[in-house]
Amino acid sequence: MVKVLVTGGAGFIGSNFVRYALAQHQDWHVTTLDKLTYAGRRENLHDVMDSPRHTFVHGDIADAAVAGPLVEQSHIVVHFAAESHVDRSIAAAGDFITTDVVGTYVLLEAARRAKDLRRFVQISTDEVYGSVPTGASRETDELKPRNPYSAAKAGADRLAYSYWATYDVPVIITRASNNYGPYQFPEKVIPLFVTNAIDDLPVPLYGDGGNIRDWLHVDDHCRGVDMLIEAGTNGEVYNIGGGNEVRNVDLTHRILTLLDKPLSLIQPVADRQGHDRRYALDTTKLRNMGWAPQVPFDDGLAATVAWYRDQPWWWRPIKEQDPRFREYYQTRYQGRA
Ligand code: NAD
Ligand code: TYD
Repeated sequence: MVKVLVTGGAGFIGSNFVRYALAQHQDWHVTTLDKLTYAGRRENLHDVMDSPRHTFVHGDIADAAVAGPLVEQSHIVVHFAAESHVDRSIAAAGDFITTDVVGTYVLLEAARRAKDLRRFVQISTDEVYGSVPTGASRETDELKPRNPYSAAKAGADRLAYSYWATYDVPVIITRASNNYGPYQFPEKVIPLFVTNAIDDLPVPLYGDGGNIRDWLHVDDHCRGVDMLIEAGTNGEVYNIGGGNEVRNVDLTHRILTLLDKPLSLIQPVADRQGHDRRYALDTTKLRNMGWAPQVPFDDGLAATVAWYRDQPWWWRPIKEQDPRFREYYQTRYQGRA
């Protein structure tokens, strides 16, 4: 059995990856290590939690006593665990430094000791390039992160690289664009807007709505990571982008149209501080290796909207019962509307 450790596997992308990996690789045993923060949920793994090829460990990546032995026993580490929401990092950056930077350091130290480790995938983000007014970011471009989340991720990205350059840890680094799909926590724009609109609640559009994100279906992200585990070169960085550049206002219109809801639900609110205007990725490197996104944005968005419409069991308890989410959501727009 190939022993695969997935950190953050109870989160949005991690849980999709665990599901994908177990289905794709019959010879993999996947261990999920997750702290179950507000964003991590056992329900995200409901259909694979009890698989004989899956083990769930509730723990913190920054806790060397827990994370260290798991890394040391692994052949492959796919490191998704992070604090991941820009707005939260603007409100309070501490957890981002502790998890995204220090947590990554703890895993990398253990990776130095691991005897059979073949691959350590550092899941970075396109946000490390900062706001890109024109053109598309290439892997060799300068990193110019502009908010505490992306700065912490850039620190982890380069720290992982340094462990390859210095200690020959078999690191590869992926920088994906904005993901969308099922099981995304409803603080991120697509699930927030979809679930609000289902309930005829306003959808809070920041600033002039002209900010652009490049949307990538989570399944295409999983396929890219999986291919790179096999075919990547240690020490290299790989962009994974969907090639779907969409202005937030247009995204909002599409969501409301798919749900047959009026555009009057759009509530313009004050802009995010330091709001990155645009992200865009050049994915030539990955495409030359044979990867291409397979999910057209129209289809993927329609399927995602339908998933949230049809799976209220998943998101209603988060929005209505989880006090951690409720407090955050209720205080969020005070003085901003
Ligand atoms: P998420 O917030 O949905 O999930 C994060 C998971 O990490 C949660 O399950 C959480 O419980 C867990 N976690 C947090 N702190 C932890 C800790 N100290 N120890 C163990 N587990 C911990 O995030 P996501 O959107 O699935 O993002 C996953 C990764 O992908 C992150 O590294 C993020 O930076 C990166 N990424 C995300 C996107 C995107 O659009 N969502 C795009 C590019 C890259
Ligand atoms: P988000 O989903 O938070 O992802 P990121 O900041 O990592 O790109 O936000 C995506 C875009 O949507 C971003 O430009 C901010 C905008 N946005 C809103 O307009 N309203 C919202 O309530 C949220 C959460 C985001």
